[in-house]
Amino acid sequence: MSETTDEQSLASRLPEGGFPPPPELAAQANVGPDVYERADADRVGFWEEQARRLDWVEPWDQALDWSNPPFAKWFVGGKLNVAVNCVDRHVDAGHGDQVAYHWIGEPGDTRTITYAELKDEVCRAANALIELGVQAGDRVAIYLPMIPEAVISMLACARIGAVHMVVFGGFSPDALASRITDADAKVVITADGGYRRGAPSALKPNVDEALTKTEGVRSVLVVKRTEQDVEWTEGRDVWWHDLVTGQSTEHEAEAFDAEHPLYIMYTSGTTAKPKGILHTSGGYLTQVAYSHWAVFDIKPDTDVFWTAADVGWVTGHSYIVYGPLANRATSVMYEGTPETPHRGRWWEIIQEYKVTILYTAPTTIRTFMKWGPEVPAGFDLSSLRLLGSVGEPINPEAWLWYHEHIGGGRCPIMDTWWQTETGAHMITPLPGVTTLKPGSAQRPLPGIAASVVDEEGKPIEPGATGYLVLTEPWPAMLRTIWGDDERYKDTYWSRYGEGVYFAGDGAKLDEDGDIWLLGRVDDVMNVSGHRISTTEVESALVSHPTVAEAAVVGATDATTGQGIVAFVILRGDAVDSGEELVKTLRLHVRKEIGPIASPRQIMVVAELPKTRSGKIMRRLLRDIAENRELGDVTTLTDSSVMDLISSKLPAAPSED
Ligand code: WTA
Repeated sequence: MSETTDEQSLASRLPEGGFPPPPELAAQANVGPDVYERADADRVGFWEEQARRLDWVEPWDQALDWSNPPFAKWFVGGKLNVAVNCVDRHVDAGHGDQVAYHWIGEPGDTRTITYAELKDEVCRAANALIELGVQAGDRVAIYLPMIPEAVISMLACARIGAVHMVVFGGFSPDALASRITDADAKVVITADGGYRRGAPSALKPNVDEALTKTEGVRSVLVVKRTEQDVEWTEGRDVWWHDLVTGQSTEHEAEAFDAEHPLYIMYTSGTTAKPKGILHTSGGYLTQVAYSHWAVFDIKPDTDVFWTAADVGWVTGHSYIVYGPLANRATSVMYEGTPETPHRGRWWEIIQEYKVTILYTAPTTIRTFMKWGPEVPAGFDLSSLRLLGSVGEPINPEAWLWYHEHIGGGRCPIMDTWWQTETGAHMITPLPGVTTLKPGSAQRPLPGIAASVVDEEGKPIEPGATGYLVLTEPWPAMLRTIWGDDERYKDTYWSRYGEGVYFAGDGAKLDEDGDIWLLGRVDDVMNVSGHRISTTEVESALVSHPTVAEAAVVGATDATTGQGIVAFVILRGDAVDSGEELVKTLRLHVRKEIGPIASPRQIMVVAELPKTRSGKIMRRLLRDIAENRELGDVTTLTDSSVMDLISSKLPAAPSED
């Protein structure tokens, strides 16, 4: 099919003016159309109203302290316990028997955990952490598969005021070690392994290796999941079933300051060193709870909510753990991959648990598109009433496929733009209010102020493109980069003057004022919805003895959004063994960072295109990686470099 026909068929499937909210949903929606005006009239007051949806032990005296930007304080003087808000208060209100999680292991084992059971488990784990000497403010690293203990551990930390730092299980020992060092974690919670793609994959050996590269960890708490053999360090390692299971289910929770740190989550920036994004308690919980309730229209008595993401990412923190629990939702949590043991696994889960709301990433939807609509068509998906998307711009084609083949044409899709840094949804439609435009995240959440500006920071005209900025502080905003206030200021708040947050995303504004996100404008790639910095991969490559120099770009990829393409120059004495070398380097990156950072393509080149000031011209490398006509090469020191590189181009990427 030619491109024009594709576009025409796409256009013909888009109703004039978009998809209006389904009338039955709009009639009973948690949030109606008046909300925007109300929130605009008194933004801080609006957030106070949302904060009152939580239980506070001490009320706040000041809703927002923005006297020292960019360091915000929300609900100053207020005290609460985040875990009590997520668990105990629902039990106390008589909902102890309600299911908090339908957990499904990849091999098919299941666990049903009610709110009452969750409370007991969290108290046991809290008591166990105390026995390990963990105190309020201490950092606890969590490196677990998608098992209930991940949620229990996070809540146990929150309950005692310890700061959790979850590291995605796909990260390498080196990546884990550097995060443990940066956060100065004292305890690591892990498992022998987890199930992925039909096989047990080990985690404990990664922790053992990581701990040879960092000091300060005194205890490793290990959940038995896969029954793999593990090495044991006496005095340091302790089994979860030995330490936690026998603990008391009584634990008196203390109230912490609204600004008490809740967690650190590392994310890639434009340099090789990941940034520890710090989130605190009261404001964060207020906004994740409100956004989860408003954007997904959560009805706690009837909905079955499923965020199909990993707790190792912010999406899991905010919309598997804190948001759903704060709203007393019943959630599905699935350990494994979508194709195990068959490509209909997700649809089978939706059918069996009568899931009403599904939240996932465009990259996964595009994978399902590749597998074909006949797979979901084999299951009963009629329980679904609402869908969500997160992680990258969703292309209209994928949006329509999701709408038609998963949502049966009846479920509105919430395209939610936000970041690890923002903590919660920021730009998103509302299901009972917004007429949806496939591909646009549309407008700021009530209470959020955003704008699209040009290079100088001036708001752009409708129809133009620019940079997304957030112009007022918001409750779930990051408070700083762990241990690096200067980097926090430089990275986010220095580009457009005081109090303006630079998100790092390009955006277009349409005639109706709706926002269309266009992807990152910095050196951060978005691969399957995961943020990976080009510099991080480059420094992993040059840490290999054969590599002298490396340049990495994100090239457009039909499934993963972007694919990692690396250009390397070898050291003088290194031998280019072709495929073998490429394989070695790919393995090296996997070891340094993790499988998610493994380059799709590695090309050995003699030179890299550089400007006269010595900057690598990534734009040209991207052109090559995407097989485009080369752009302007006049600023190159030596334009013949490009011919040289182009002539070396392999036709197709090679697989592992
Ligand atoms: C991108 C994930 C367009 C964006 C919650 C952002 C999106 C980065 C969307 C944050 C969306 C996320 N539309 N782009 N709906 N959602 N992004 O920190 O580039 O892993 O800056 O947080 O993902 O990724 P992060």
